Amino acid sequence: MSDKTNKTNPPDTSSLVSARGQVEPFIAMEVLREANRLEAGGAHVLHLEVGQPGTQAPKTAREAAKRAIDQEPLGYTDALGILPLRERISRHYSDTYGLDISPERIAVTAGSSGGFILSFLGVFDTGDRVALSVPGYPAYFNTLEALGLEVVTLDTGAATRWAMTPDQVLEAHSTNPLAGVLLASPGNPTGTMLMPDDLTALVDVTRDNNIQLISDEIYHGLTYDAPAETVLKYTDDAIVVNSFSKYFSMTGWRVGWLVLPENLVRTVERLAQSLFISVPAVSQYAAIGAFDATEELEANKAVYARNRDLLIKRLPEIGLGNFLPMDGAFYAYIDVSAHTNDSKDFAARLLKEAHVAVTPGADFDRVNGHRYVRLSFAGTYENIVAATDRIGDWLSRQE
Ligand SMILES: Cc1ncc(COP(=O)(O)O)c(C=O)c1O
Repeated sequence: MSDKTNKTNPPDTSSLVSARGQVEPFIAMEVLREANRLEAGGAHVLHLEVGQPGTQAPKTAREAAKRAIDQEPLGYTDALGILPLRERISRHYSDTYGLDISPERIAVTAGSSGGFILSFLGVFDTGDRVALSVPGYPAYFNTLEALGLEVVTLDTGAATRWAMTPDQVLEAHSTNPLAGVLLASPGNPTGTMLMPDDLTALVDVTRDNNIQLISDEIYHGLTYDAPAETVLKYTDDAIVVNSFSKYFSMTGWRVGWLVLPENLVRTVERLAQSLFISVPAVSQYAAIGAFDATEELEANKAVYARNRDLLIKRLPEIGLGNFLPMDGAFYAYIDVSAHTNDSKDFAARLLKEAHVAVTPGADFDRVNGHRYVRLSFAGTYENIVAATDRIGDWLSRQE
């Protein structure tokens, strides 16, 4: 565990830019830019770098959007979202988890990214300490830091299936009180999941110590063995962040949601009124339609499951067997230290020489990420077959 975030770039103080704006680049997006550049020059790049479904929004969502364009004014909506969508999300909690969550506790947000901004501002004050596990999704760091919060990193490893433990939370809290703990299950970049006992232990430790728990449940729906459990089963005091981006295959529509403790709803509403006014209305109508697309979405998931099985079999055969089986999401986080001590260079060469784009671990872990790469398997099966073949060929030429 360390209390600092270990910035690789010092703040730019040479011109009129804020220090808080000097967040780290999102490396996956930089790899994508380079991959696009190669493609513009005629290369056929296989994309395993960006974490998004290759599929479009489901048909029922697109139809709902078309209807809304023809029939609705599509102006500003209530800051917390249109009521039919909040009610539909509420029904999703009863259908999926058997929970009764009032629509009043649901706020529709501009993707989960918008939900993070609203929840961080709603519960934390400048300088508050928020713990999260490393490796983790890079925007957590950057958003918290840009908002003037202190990120407390809890280092995890394969031995604990990349899960933070209650002891780590307590240790960080005893050093200097924590205001919040942010967890994600299934997680990005590891695809591993917290088991129900681990989840309840974290709920207990945060409740007992008056620490706000925020649970990123964006990869729910995308699990391959056991389904993911929501923290709402164990507490009404946590903030749950979710989105239509992943399971629902709607990244570009920018729509997600929060489930809030009752006492936070008005605070988040007031913040949302000023920060976003409302979420794009057409996306909100489309999101209602997305709930009727189970067959299509399950078919998408079946492709990820097939890709996952292929990777679990094929990666060890090509010399990349050091990873944990993925419980959910669509990522494999692979230890490549047998091949390199600099996964950024490894990824750059793989892209340049074999035209396969992967994300170096530095995006997710500024200290140990140099030993890892993340592969996203959200593309087609054929893409994953071709990518593993290319990587295998390329690796065999390296030794
Ligand atoms: C763990 C996690 N949380 C949140 C997001 C942000 O998603 P969005 O803002 O599209 O809902 C992502 C995107 O990759 C993610 O991996």
